[in-house]
Amino acid sequence: MRFSDITKRLHNDGSRAWDIHVRAAAALDAGEDVIIMSVGDSEFDTPAPIIDACIKAMRAGDTHYVEVVGQDRLRRVIARRHAARTRVPVTAQNVVVCAGAQNALFNTAQVILSPGDEVVVLEPMYVTYEATLRAPGATLVPVPCPAHNGYRPDLDALRAAITPRTRAIAFANPVNPTGVSLPPDDLSVIATLAVENDLWVIADEVYADLVFDGEHHPIAALPGMEERAVSLGSLSKSHAMTGWRAGWLVGPRALVDAVENLALCSTYGLPGFVQQAAAFALETDLPEVTAMRDAFQERRDMALAALQSAPGIRCAPPRAGMFLILDVSQTGLSGGAFSQALFEACGVSVLDGAAFGPSTAGTVRLCFALPRDRLVEGCRRIVEFAASLA
Ligand SMILES: Cc1ncc(COP(=O)(O)O)c(C=O)c1O
Repeated sequence: MRFSDITKRLHNDGSRAWDIHVRAAAALDAGEDVIIMSVGDSEFDTPAPIIDACIKAMRAGDTHYVEVVGQDRLRRVIARRHAARTRVPVTAQNVVVCAGAQNALFNTAQVILSPGDEVVVLEPMYVTYEATLRAPGATLVPVPCPAHNGYRPDLDALRAAITPRTRAIAFANPVNPTGVSLPPDDLSVIATLAVENDLWVIADEVYADLVFDGEHHPIAALPGMEERAVSLGSLSKSHAMTGWRAGWLVGPRALVDAVENLALCSTYGLPGFVQQAAAFALETDLPEVTAMRDAFQERRDMALAALQSAPGIRCAPPRAGMFLILDVSQTGLSGGAFSQALFEACGVSVLDGAAFGPSTAGTVRLCFALPRDRLVEGCRRIVEFAASLA
């Protein structure tokens, strides 16, 4: 039987980067002594009050079909937070509740990109971006954020990448895998180019609440963004809710209408009890959430300190997120070869940085959001492995 063209576009090499993670997860299930540093899902469970809010909503009967764009209570609190951060007076009408930031990205791409369009994307980029943005038939135009520039965008390359076919500029801020939090100067250039060329701006802000040094700068706050910025967010990382699939997009109302039609044909809305729990999570200052954030910051610092002594390895200190990049080029191994050999020698799984783009070739990405003892042991094994190569 034949499959559609979109099926081919959804298949890309990015998924191969996960092979090592899949192997490590299988080895762990089989009882082997492995340490998984290849995925951004911490050991923290969702805070109990959020779970209670979900159960309460289910018991109260919120188990029926819901508004496809999202329940008003949740849309309102998302809009309030967005407005507070950006000073742009958005309302619930500017919000669509989506099955995670990933689904919000997919929906956005589907409604703004067509075959023949180009979408400029800062690389390194999260591994799903390529397939997601190419799915509507658009061409991906990567713009480097090179190591020599502190993994910030090469702004000349960005200017040069824009053509009459460009429809959008897409990026994550903060960035997975580098942990860069984009500074106002870079955002301002991106915003100006978008206005000058009448482009959409897609900002994936899934790590916005995990900025440890300085603060998060949302591009949606800049002039001219109100009618063209689409801000994506979720509770996955900030509230340890990866499995709930509770995310959203905030954008112009015409975009919201278009995404509503798409959601009507795909998810048909998110479960009401998930939305009630998500609304409660965003309405409430939960000490558990602050404690998790503090723990991530502490673990980042622990990992940086522990890996300092690894011969031939350089760390790029991340300002945000759950990951850090190790430059392993001086070991003589590629990121892919290093991660394979590391896993085989000492059961630690990390991802090849090249999977995120050419700017992080020669690196590996590790997640530091692990329980402290596992993190210390994982870093110890990496240092030992690097010493064995030296
Ligand atoms: C940059 C980035 N965007 C989106 C996602 C997916 O997030 P969600 O769970 O909200 O779909 C991830 C997950 O790791 C990510 O790192």
